[in-house]
Amino acid sequence: MEFAWWLVAAGAVLCLPGVPGLNNGLALTPPMGWLHWERFLCETNCERDPNNCISEQLFMQMADMMVTNGWLDAGYKYLCIDDCWLATKRDENNRLQADSTRFPGGIKKLADYVHARGLLLGIYQDVGKMTCAGYPGSEGFYELDAQTFADWGVDLLKFDGCNYESLEQLEEGYRRMAIALNHTGRNIVYSCEWPLYARGMSKVNYTEVAEYCNSWRNFGDILDSWSSVKSVIDFTATLQDQLVPAAGPGAWNDPDMLVIGNFGLSWGQEVTQMALWSIMAAPLLMSNDLRDINPRSKALLQNQEVISINQDSLGAQGYRVLKADNFELWEKPLAGGCLAVSVTNRQEIGGPRWFLLFRSMLWKGLACKNKCYLTQLLPTRHEYGSFNATFSLELLVNPSSTVLLRVD
Ligand SMILES: *[C@@H]1O[C@H](CO)[C@@H](O)[C@H](O)[C@H]1NC(C)=O
Ligand SMILES: *[C@@H]1O[C@H](CO)[C@@H](O)[C@H](O)[C@H]1NC(C)=O
Repeated sequence: MEFAWWLVAAGAVLCLPGVPGLNNGLALTPPMGWLHWERFLCETNCERDPNNCISEQLFMQMADMMVTNGWLDAGYKYLCIDDCWLATKRDENNRLQADSTRFPGGIKKLADYVHARGLLLGIYQDVGKMTCAGYPGSEGFYELDAQTFADWGVDLLKFDGCNYESLEQLEEGYRRMAIALNHTGRNIVYSCEWPLYARGMSKVNYTEVAEYCNSWRNFGDILDSWSSVKSVIDFTATLQDQLVPAAGPGAWNDPDMLVIGNFGLSWGQEVTQMALWSIMAAPLLMSNDLRDINPRSKALLQNQEVISINQDSLGAQGYRVLKADNFELWEKPLAGGCLAVSVTNRQEIGGPRWFLLFRSMLWKGLACKNKCYLTQLLPTRHEYGSFNATFSLELLVNPSSTVLLRVD
């Protein structure tokens, strides 16, 4: 225990006030990759469902898809394991071990496989006694588990918050794991769920969360449905005064996975998720089946101009500017005084509706004073050309869909 307190004291020194974001040099733009949870959940019966159970085979196949089908080239480089990879017990030295039937080669071998293809490997653990699905958690073993992950060659840790004992234990656990990861000396992106679990018990101090975590979840798990995607967008907008200032290079609000390419969203709703997740500077972690994804969803997820809004070097999180007449207007300042703008039609009856966008509604910091170049990126690409200081634009937006623009 004395050792642990020393680590906590070291944390206070490591995290100088005023340093924005966890200072580990990682995730300077939102992490991009693939995470198994929303699509594959916790299927552990590989006899019944060999192609979809949580096993090394699933991750090796996804790694192959990421490389051969353009995902890695598009920027998706973290292949992330979620819950249900663990054996039900630690080994005789208290080290974590993967389920030996489903991961016969162990995580080290999987990491080598992933690294050989130019990808990075993400793994999952929990701050409490057990993971959400009931596997051994990290409580009492933060330093050992961080070292185990480093020894295996893990590059990202998603650290869940189920089964904590108290607010103090939860918060202390998140801090201690951050310090333990740092002390391994390995570059490991640290993805937290601290605010999600602490909310309701106390007011979340986002300055502190951002000092310890590269990204953090604020809201419950996303589902493969429009109502779920909407609820995440609404929640983020409601809390934007707290969330937006906390985000920046190395520190991101995480509205959870992209569910594009699955079953629940219409095409227009997929466009909305991609546009808003880019505006929100969200980690772009897809949860879908890369072995079987329709070409239109794939093209949307790989759209380089949209991704470049998400990955913009300024690292500003966008925010809702206006909500009126069942429209929402969001904007995200970009490097060089440029701007991304989205207009979502939230009316779920009727057909496409016109939204009149005025220059005066938008960010005052726009660098293009008298010569703004407007490009529509979604749902289809269209160049509107140059506009002067007082431009206005009529946009036709489909129900529950979004028009995404870039102003240069
Ligand atoms: C550990 O923290 C120090 C101080 O913030 C930082 O300079 C260093 O890059 C970190 N190392 C790792 C491996 O995260
Ligand atoms: C929030 O955390 C920061 C950094 O740890 C600290 O300086 C500040 O005092 C905290 N704010 C509150 C209200 O506790």
